[in-house]
Amino acid sequence: MKKVNLALVGATGMVGSEFIKILEEKDFPIENFYPFSSERSAGKKILFKGKEYEVEELKEDSFEGKDLDMALFSAGGEISRIYAPLAAKAGALVIDNSSYWRMDKDVPLVVPEVNPDDIRDAKVGIIANPNCSTIQAMVVLKPLYDKFGLKRVIYSTYQAVSGSGVKGVEDLEEGVKGNPTGFYPHPISYNCLPHIDSFLENGYTKEEMKMVNETHKILGDEKIRVTATTVRVPVKNGHSESINLEFDKEFDIKDVFEVLKKADGVEVMDNPQENIYPTAIYADGKDEVFVGRIRRDFSVDNGVNLWVVADNIRKGAALNTVQIGLKALEMGVVK
Ligand SMILES: NC(=O)c1ccc[n+]([C@@H]2O[C@H](COP(=O)([O-])OP(=O)(O)OC[C@H]3O[C@@H](n4cnc5c(N)ncnc54)[C@H](OP(=O)(O)O)[C@@H]3O)[C@@H](O)[C@H]2O)c1
Repeated sequence: MKKVNLALVGATGMVGSEFIKILEEKDFPIENFYPFSSERSAGKKILFKGKEYEVEELKEDSFEGKDLDMALFSAGGEISRIYAPLAAKAGALVIDNSSYWRMDKDVPLVVPEVNPDDIRDAKVGIIANPNCSTIQAMVVLKPLYDKFGLKRVIYSTYQAVSGSGVKGVEDLEEGVKGNPTGFYPHPISYNCLPHIDSFLENGYTKEEMKMVNETHKILGDEKIRVTATTVRVPVKNGHSESINLEFDKEFDIKDVFEVLKKADGVEVMDNPQENIYPTAIYADGKDEVFVGRIRRDFSVDNGVNLWVVADNIRKGAALNTVQIGLKALEMGVVK
């Protein structure tokens, strides 16, 4: 596989640190590595593949003269808005973790197990990584969609504080000691907040609408009726989701198990009599999306309930991005 010159924007953040771990674990083929941050962390040393690198402050001319092949962005929407096109202009295939480019019609939104071929449609040199809570849902929903069709999806999420970055984790850790930092609008310790990202005029949060819109875009089907309630819970890492589905077709629950057992990237953990079902603590540090509590919803004709759990920083962010990068290399999409 071709070795790439790689920029990592947001290298000192929660997701950026996970990127570094996963790029090492997956032995990503790298020739030259360029970590970037804001001026706050510039000059900091990062150990990557046994070598020390100094973090550079991100500036408008940062990508020039580096012969970049790929740039991974994880520093928030505003940074991606300004700098992702500059990296693409400098020749890099950008894989962006922020929400800024996700719904742009020229930017594919990719989960490698679900829609890898969309990688070829990166018309402006940018590929978007979906929202963490959407990614784990898509890995499970796509094989069911292919087999049974989807009429309606109801998402209810239980999302970890690591999804808010370093400051979210601090607020929980300090909060349980009685000193909340006030990062969230209410205490997050011993509490649940039905509030992730900002509120929109329609009464939903941005996070909820991301799940709705991204489901349509990734599955390429606007007809599926989707709704979501997203909740921040006092869990350090790992998002859990209750997903209620209504299929187009009649089904046998045994076939749902069979489809999910064969699905790429999915692990079925379902033996409630033995207390076997996925939890956030179990999923922490693992690559797979775990699904359990698989059971018929008796209140509608073709309904199913699922409990879906994944490490939001790994599969929900850094791992999915690195997998997109590896796929792009395999497909020869990187110049
Ligand atoms: N956490 C998740 O579960 C998750 C999942 C999916 C996507 N994301 C997305 O990933 C991004 C980062 O999230 P995070 O959780 O890693 O946040 P974080 O821990 O707060 O880290 C933010 C990173 O961005 C850098 N940064 C901030 N302002 C910058 C600037 N002006 N120029 C260059 N770099 C700048 C920071 O550098 P300094 O060290 O210098 O401040 C740091 O490296 C966000 O877009 C988030 O929406 C997060």
